[in-house]
Amino acid sequence: MRRKLVVGNWKMNKTVAEADDWCWNYVEHQLIGSETEVGVAPPYLGLVAVAESLYGTDVMVGGQDAFWLESGAYTGLVSPTMLKDAGGSFCILGHSERRGRFGKLEVPEETLPYFSETDATLNLKLAAVLKAGLTPILCCGETQAERDSGMTDSVIERQLRGALHGFTSKELQPLVLAYEPVWAIGTGKVCDSGEASRISGFIRSHLKVAVSTKVSRSTRILYGGSVKSSNAAELFAMPDIDGGLVGGASLDPAEFAKIVGAA
Ligand code: PGA
Repeated sequence: MRRKLVVGNWKMNKTVAEADDWCWNYVEHQLIGSETEVGVAPPYLGLVAVAESLYGTDVMVGGQDAFWLESGAYTGLVSPTMLKDAGGSFCILGHSERRGRFGKLEVPEETLPYFSETDATLNLKLAAVLKAGLTPILCCGETQAERDSGMTDSVIERQLRGALHGFTSKELQPLVLAYEPVWAIGTGKVCDSGEASRISGFIRSHLKVAVSTKVSRSTRILYGGSVKSSNAAELFAMPDIDGGLVGGASLDPAEFAKIVGAA
């Protein structure tokens, strides 16, 4: 039985004071005794403060990304070990806002990737995150143009194959995946729950063939893209959807608590 997981990705939002405020408010709204695992990924600067404010609660704190090397002359970057040291227990990897298409700007303006993440860099990051003992939450998903040209499944398969290449079934035990159609992120356009469930099932079959039956059964697959309290229950009730990765709606503690409640 896979335990439901709901993670809030704050992206580049909230000062330390605002983050602290969120924590106090969330704790007041949270459902006591819920079986659902909950996490938040604040910007790095707020991570230590959030971990302290949430100390003693069941809410995990994690990063939105991490580099694959331990230390060195890499201006602006943070390693998985540093993330763990600061109180993090998970790390989001491969969010579409960070992904590139092999460094080329060949996607529409609105989905333009900022950081040129590739499947190969994700493969390195996944190894580093696992080595540091963090839970990786690896994102995958197609753009609108890819969906329109019937490439949804092949894009997702390519992303998974590239990122998961070379790992053993045992190494991938902690893996969490998130299906996040790029066209649904921050747009208010949520993916139809039946289609989101079909893709999660497709991801699970890929894991079975490419990794192992064990990993395909145990890996939690989250849905992300305009999740709100009004659509969360329907999405989370789907047999292959094990929770959500929530952006905009996670910034409001009461709304986020409702989404967690829906799981
Ligand atoms: P959204 O973002 O909930 O604001 O659509 C989801 C995400 O980017 O993970």
